[in-house]
Amino acid sequence: MKYGFNALFFAPMHISILSSSTRIDRLSHRVALALERSIAGRGHSARILDLAMYKFPIMEEVLHRHPEPPAGLSDFSDAIRQSDAQIFLSPEYNGSYTAALKNAVDYLKENEFARKAIGVVSVTSGPMGGMRGAISMQQLVLGVSGFALPQMLLVPQVAQKFDEQGTLLDLAFQPKIDFFLNNFIWLAEAVSDKKHAELLLK
Ligand SMILES: Cc1cc2nc3c(=O)[nH]c(=O)nc-3n(C[C@H](O)[C@H](O)[C@H](O)COP(=O)(O)O)c2cc1C
Repeated sequence: MKYGFNALFFAPMHISILSSSTRIDRLSHRVALALERSIAGRGHSARILDLAMYKFPIMEEVLHRHPEPPAGLSDFSDAIRQSDAQIFLSPEYNGSYTAALKNAVDYLKENEFARKAIGVVSVTSGPMGGMRGAISMQQLVLGVSGFALPQMLLVPQVAQKFDEQGTLLDLAFQPKIDFFLNNFIWLAEAVSDKKHAELLLK
């Protein structure tokens, strides 16, 4: 049997989930809570970076040139830098992802996302699941030099699928979560193994 470096050294990956609805009574954050638990259940560490908590102002200058960086921005950058892979999670707003996600990502121009696996999750309250939001996020991933996971997780009718704590209510949806996470972890481990191998060869 062939093992990757992560499997060989039992090194859990650190995965950050950018939860990007800042709306009062938001629903999509439920999916972030669910994914955080699912990833932990697979032996990796997951951390939600909640843009509603950070409350970054509209970007006036990128972080590394900012004379007075907004509170929490350096920590946000560090958290992304220290993670092996990311999930961009957003509701679909007007056929795209949230302005808060774009704003937060635009602050970071020091390769925080480069050469990292990034999966996208789009959420809607209605029946469509947010394909346009997901495709837009994949374009954003390419823009920050990440490796966009081809498979996406679309979550339609979110309120019927997850409760406020992120517990799955609709068990028929579980295979879709597994399909997404299996592919995401596979890509993230492949990228991570390559980096470990490069470090060992230095
Ligand atoms: C500004 C805005 C734009 C929206 N645009 C879309 C859309 O393009 N497609 C869609 O299916 N739902 C759309 N919706 C409905 C959202 O899917 C629904 O409100 C969802 O709960 C938003 O996620 P949130 O609760 O985490 O903010 C929109 C909602 C808002 C507030």
